[in-house]
Amino acid sequence: MPHEAYTLSLPVAGRRVVVVGAGAAGTRITRRLLAAGAAVLVVAPDASPEVRAAASAGLLDWVARPYRSGDAADAWLVHAATGSPEVDALVASDAERVGTWCVVEPPPHDRTTAAPGRASGRVALVGGGPGAADMITVRGLALLTEADVVVVDRLAPRTLLDDLSPDVEIVDVGKSAGDHPVPQHEINAVLVDRALAGKRVVRLKGGDPYVFGRGGEEHDACVGAGVPVEVVPGVTSAVSVPAAAGIPVTHRGLARGFSVLTGHDDAGRVPTSGDHTLVLLMGLARLERTCAELIARGHDPHCPAAVIEDGFGPRQRTTVATLATIAARAREMGVRPPAVAVVGDVVRRSPAWACAVEPALALAGAPAYRAEDRA
Ligand SMILES: C[S@@+](CC[C@H](N)C(=O)[O-])C[C@H]1O[C@@H](n2cnc3c(N)ncnc32)[C@H](O)[C@@H]1O
Repeated sequence: MPHEAYTLSLPVAGRRVVVVGAGAAGTRITRRLLAAGAAVLVVAPDASPEVRAAASAGLLDWVARPYRSGDAADAWLVHAATGSPEVDALVASDAERVGTWCVVEPPPHDRTTAAPGRASGRVALVGGGPGAADMITVRGLALLTEADVVVVDRLAPRTLLDDLSPDVEIVDVGKSAGDHPVPQHEINAVLVDRALAGKRVVRLKGGDPYVFGRGGEEHDACVGAGVPVEVVPGVTSAVSVPAAAGIPVTHRGLARGFSVLTGHDDAGRVPTSGDHTLVLLMGLARLERTCAELIARGHDPHCPAAVIEDGFGPRQRTTVATLATIAARAREMGVRPPAVAVVGDVVRRSPAWACAVEPALALAGAPAYRAEDRA
């Protein structure tokens, strides 16, 4: 007859607990130990971003090398979670020799929560932020670390996938501009099917799931199928990518509000003054048409404009011009996706504006453009 798990709770607060391994399992254990107030020492040649961040913040000690006998000599409790049965067995036998409790993490395929048909299946729609690994939320990272299946977009923070256990199923629904996208109904079906099979599914998305991310449709598909679903907001590129270029979307005395658009269709629906910031997502290919449409709808052609490529990434670059000239300037500069365009007086706060536009205007004998010059 199969035995049920015997659950024990230990007073680890203030006590030295050694965790050997800092992959998915080690990270999960470490997180719980820190929450319980343990003095954690992690021994692992490499560590997940979460463990690294905790070590940098002084929340735990990390010895960045493989385990050696004696590492846990003064521990009150030891966790072996390397994923290698040989190393875990060595940790356990070392602990037993000195009379220290050792918990050995079962190999990944023994994880009962992933068993098909169990009611534990669920979906988390996680906003991954603008793409850098350290801009996901703490909650998003925690859910990712515990996932059985990750369904990932192209602009999500994909380097985080490298730290997942090899038995985590990765479903890549990322698409490049021009490629055929994976139809939304197929993505919805993957989420629902895996969750109904008892899996913990993370839908890892770029930015925020509910800002031009089709998160609402995925949420509704899960609810419709009776699958529990959680939405974890993310740092949207609409606000963070301009910020990376030194542009606040609102600023006292300069911009009182902002709109996020995806193209020219919305040109007639937004305030036309420069103190209302326009942020354009997914709009690079249509930039010329959108700018022309905005001007036709009454926006000032001289209004400052910027295009920011690959915000927070290695290719981050800001190109500035005016609403009338930004599309041509972007073409000249060979601007490539992903990119966010910003139109509004706030663009003047970008260091790129001060470097590129104001000296050029001065050289041409023109006074620097000022928002208050406009009627
Ligand atoms: C389908 S939308 C998704 C937006 C996402 N849900 C969000 O909240 O950021 C994708 C667009 O976001 C913008 N984008 C996302 N990440 C970016 C980045 N790191 N740098 C520049 N633009 C980015 C680009 O305009 C891209 O075409």
